[in-house]
Amino acid sequence: MTIDPESLRARAATALLAARDRTHLLTTCVDEPELVAQHSPLMSPLVWDLAHIGNQEEQWLLRTVGGRDALRPDIDSVYDAFEHPRATRPSLPLLTPDEAHGYVSEVRGRVLDVLERSALRGGPLLDAAFAFGMIAQHEQQHDETMLITHQLRSGPAALSAPPPPVTSDGILPAEVLVPGGLFTMGTSTEPWALDNERPAHRRMVHAFLIDTAPVSNGAYLRFIEDGGYGEPRWWSDEGWAQVREHGLRAPLFWRQEGGSWLRRRFGVTEEVPPDEPVVHVSWYEADAYARWAGRRLPTEAEWEKAARHDPVADRSLRYPWGDQDPTPAHANLGQRHLQPALVGSYPDGRSPLGVGQLIGDVWEWTAGDFLPYPGFAAFPYREYSEVFFGGPYKVLRGGSFAVDAVACRGTFRNWDLPVRRQIFAGFRTARDAGIPSDA
Ligand code: AVJ
Ligand code: FE
Repeated sequence: MTIDPESLRARAATALLAARDRTHLLTTCVDEPELVAQHSPLMSPLVWDLAHIGNQEEQWLLRTVGGRDALRPDIDSVYDAFEHPRATRPSLPLLTPDEAHGYVSEVRGRVLDVLERSALRGGPLLDAAFAFGMIAQHEQQHDETMLITHQLRSGPAALSAPPPPVTSDGILPAEVLVPGGLFTMGTSTEPWALDNERPAHRRMVHAFLIDTAPVSNGAYLRFIEDGGYGEPRWWSDEGWAQVREHGLRAPLFWRQEGGSWLRRRFGVTEEVPPDEPVVHVSWYEADAYARWAGRRLPTEAEWEKAARHDPVADRSLRYPWGDQDPTPAHANLGQRHLQPALVGSYPDGRSPLGVGQLIGDVWEWTAGDFLPYPGFAAFPYREYSEVFFGGPYKVLRGGSFAVDAVACRGTFRNWDLPVRRQIFAGFRTARDAGIPSDA
């Protein structure tokens, strides 16, 4: 499918603009001292993310795609994520908030001129406006990172949003059977898919059962109240070491007061809602809960088959609900809300097999390590994915309420260290079907 250059241009401009609106909100809702402060050693100062967004855009869209002169080559090194770990970024000679805002808008003005004049064909960066889509996704990914910083900061709320709509139809079974057999994993056709999602390839998956919704706070509380954090047999060795070293006893941002569990969410303390998906748990906590429940985390291939496999058409869909781009009826995406929707929500977003809330709400930890697909080729830079393959990273799927639709697909792969809890991550569980596959 080829799209005419005018529509492509409009699509790229819209994606860039949406990202910038969000970046603007996240970097203007707090004052200057808060933009330059480091709210957690796990995160950059917000003003670093802001100028890094502009610097990546300058490097790829202005210099590489546009062939234009560099605007600020002197700051490339300061905003190189590999040269400077997050904890060290406050001590760098950063642009001030005013300078950073001015820089990103100067870059953007020139980039829109590049986009206007580009034929949008003649190589993999230009075809389908890939580089523009990549940079819009990059900005949205940093917007999610900045939203995590907002969640970690102390002090009164700076952001607010209405709760997600109540859409549950109350008819969801707890789990469904996904038949065994081959399915198509990854993509070779999705125009803005990133390198690690490629290429499409056939994968064998044995029959398994998977939860139709992410694990809820209420279910997770039963694990806590059953003494789950005091029982080494539920934990991997590394997970148990984390529990001991940090005295873990509940998800991040939770505390017990009197008889009730409270959580802090974007500056507001509230009771933990039992019917919402659990969020802010590490891979180790997800793994331990699943073992306690007599279950396990789904593999990445199982997750994708549950999300994309259409057993009638025998093909993989772009999203659980089909091939259409997400709408607010399908999934809780894009920071429209600042929390996941109740389990059982979004009936219009379910997969053909009846699995719900795979896209949006919470990132979902999967069992597996972050590895390349057969036939992987790094594009356009090794540091996006390739340097992380085979490391200590676990794969997360599906996206959270904080992910924009441009950076979320049935094939999209995220990854992080198994100890991480500040990310908007939860999980669902699975189990073997115990019957031979029909393949
Ligand atoms: C894909 C979310 C793990 O934030 O480290 C941003 C995305 N890569 N800038 C990250 C990314 C370069 C990346 N994750
Ligand atoms: Fe980045």
